[in-house]
Amino acid sequence: MTSFYNSILGLRAIRQFEDRPVSDADLRAILEAARWTGSSKNSQNWAFIVITDPGQKTAICAAGDFMTPVEQAPMMIALVETPGGYEFDTGRVAQNIMLAADAIGLASCPVTLHRTEIAHAVLGLPDGYRCRYGVAVGSPAPSSGPARFGGRKPIGQLVHRNRYGG
Ligand SMILES: Cc1cc2nc3c(=O)[nH]c(=O)nc-3n(C[C@H](O)[C@H](O)[C@H](O)COP(=O)(O)O)c2cc1C
Repeated sequence: MTSFYNSILGLRAIRQFEDRPVSDADLRAILEAARWTGSSKNSQNWAFIVITDPGQKTAICAAGDFMTPVEQAPMMIALVETPGGYEFDTGRVAQNIMLAADAIGLASCPVTLHRTEIAHAVLGLPDGYRCRYGVAVGSPAPSSGPARFGGRKPIGQLVHRNRYGG
């Protein structure tokens, strides 16, 4: 197996970060991975808002119920769906951001912005734009430890052949 395959299997959501900023070079590398994500009809109906300002970070935390990762991280990348965007594409961007962060030694955690109307106001989005997800990114704290939930369902419980139950 390649180390990339092992990275896919080993990727975990990390919620504790060191108190230091993400470098411009690392941010650029992550955004490049985001930019190259495939999307439906290559429509690229997305925008990425990099939040590092402490006031903005606090304000965006009001939009989600489980925002500890953002409180702890030096940075959150807000994933904005522009008109015509699909949540599936946004999910692919999130995973690319997480894998790219992992590849350069950083950690990350996706977060849900349950109250999109708050996110809309905090981010200053135009009408028709929506932001429901973000990814907290930073250097993993030494104490970042194991995942909160962990584990996965066994493959036999998930996979069916040709039809459900097959
Ligand atoms: C769509 C989505 C939304 C998530 N939202 C949050 C969140 O709001 N806060 C949080 O701490 N983790 C959030 N997570 C992280 C999940 O809890 C985590 O990926 C899951 O428990 C599996 O953990 P692991 O990948 O570390 O094994 C989210 C994950 C996904 C895919």
